[in-house]
Formats: sequence, C-alpha cells, structure tokens
Amino acid sequence: MLYRRFAHRALVAAALCLAGACVGDATHAVDEAALERVRAYDTMARVSTAPYASAISEARISVWFGGGGVDDYLRIHPDRRGSGAVLDDGAMIVREVLAADGSVERLTVMCKGPAGYNPDLGDWWYAVTDPAGEPIELEGELQVGRLTGCYACHEDRPDDDFLFGVPEAALPSHP
Ligand code: HEC
Repeated sequence: MLYRRFAHRALVAAALCLAGACVGDATHAVDEAALERVRAYDTMARVSTAPYASAISEARISVWFGGGGVDDYLRIHPDRRGSGAVLDDGAMIVREVLAADGSVERLTVMCKGPAGYNPDLGDWWYAVTDPAGEPIELEGELQVGRLTGCYACHEDRPDDDFLFGVPEAALPSHP
C-alpha cells in the first residue's frame, strides 16, 4: 500500500518534471528563501566601517554579510587576487548602493547556493532589489537567480570565489 502511494507520487513528480514544473518550483523556492533573508539584511553584520567608493560607478557602497564564513570573506580584497577563499553554503553578501544623500538606493546581492545550483559561477545566486529587498525588473526580467548579466566581472575572480571583497581601508581592523 505504502509503496503504491509513493510510487504514485513519484510518477506525478516525474510528470510535473517533464512539464518543467519541478525546475520552476525548485528555483522559486531558492529565490524565496534567499529574498526572505535579504528583506532582513539589516540584522546581518555590516562588514565595511563606513561607505566607500565603488570601483564601477560614481556611487558609494556599504557591504553586509550573513551566514557562515565571514573570516573567509574578509580575506578577499579587490586589489589582490588568489586568496583561495571559498565561502560556505548560505553565505550572503549584500552590497548597498547609496544615493548622494547617503540613503540606500538599491541592493545588489550574492548568496552561495547549494552545490550544483550554479556550476558556471561558484554556485552563486544573484539579485538586484529595492532597499526593502523586493527584486526589481530590468528589461522585463526580474533580477533574481542565475543572472548571467552579473557574470562578466565576477567570473574574472575564480581564485577568490568570484568575489571582490572589501578594501582593507574599509575594514574595522584598519587604523
Ligand atoms: C562591471 C563589472 C561588474 C558587474 C557586471 C557586476 N559586478 Fe558585482 N561587483 C563588481 C565590483 C568591482 C565589486 C566590488 C565593489 C565595488 O567596487 O562596487 C562588486 C561587488 C559585488 C558584491 C559584493 C560581493 C563581493 O564581490 O565582494 C555583490 C553582492 C555584487 N557585486 C553583486 C552583483 C550583481 C547582483 C550583479 C549583477 C546585477 C553584479 N554584481 C554585476 C563588479 C561588477
């Protein structure tokens, strides 16, 4: 009996899979779980002591870290390569992009997914959200998941888990 019930479920799951539904559902679950954490990012640890200039725009930024492995993250710096750091599953980095008046304009986010989530790029999940953690839409695409548009610069840093890190001058231990 029990076996029959499980066998039936497996058949239904397989049918849904063929219809593409299981892939969609799994992706949705990953997105939702990560976004839930982004919405509460101000309970995470702020890594940078003060806002500092982004290397890729006029904006100033602040960086927050959640999950395990912050020491590994702190070994990565934008002006060096080859830290060899690899972050833990669930590590989340939120980069606040600040407006001229210092208010938060938007968030760019990376979260380390489970092994196999994104083999092309260190299993990283990406998002761009408003300050409340709601993903924004760009050219009709909701900015969450395996955002290939984000790979360009990050894929250049394979020996630092595809991360840039925070300049030493913006870290607490710096005099
Ligand atoms: C033009 C190159 C470039 C592209 C494209 C890019 N990034 Fe970045 N990213 C950087 C640089 C450089 C940094 C270091 C911080 C800074 O200078 O702003 C960074 C830092 C980050 C960080 C902080 C984690 C870290 O690397 O230490 C996050 C999160 C992030 N980017 C998310 C994204 C997302 C999401 C996208 C796609 C929407 C994206 N990035 C696309 C260059 C890029």
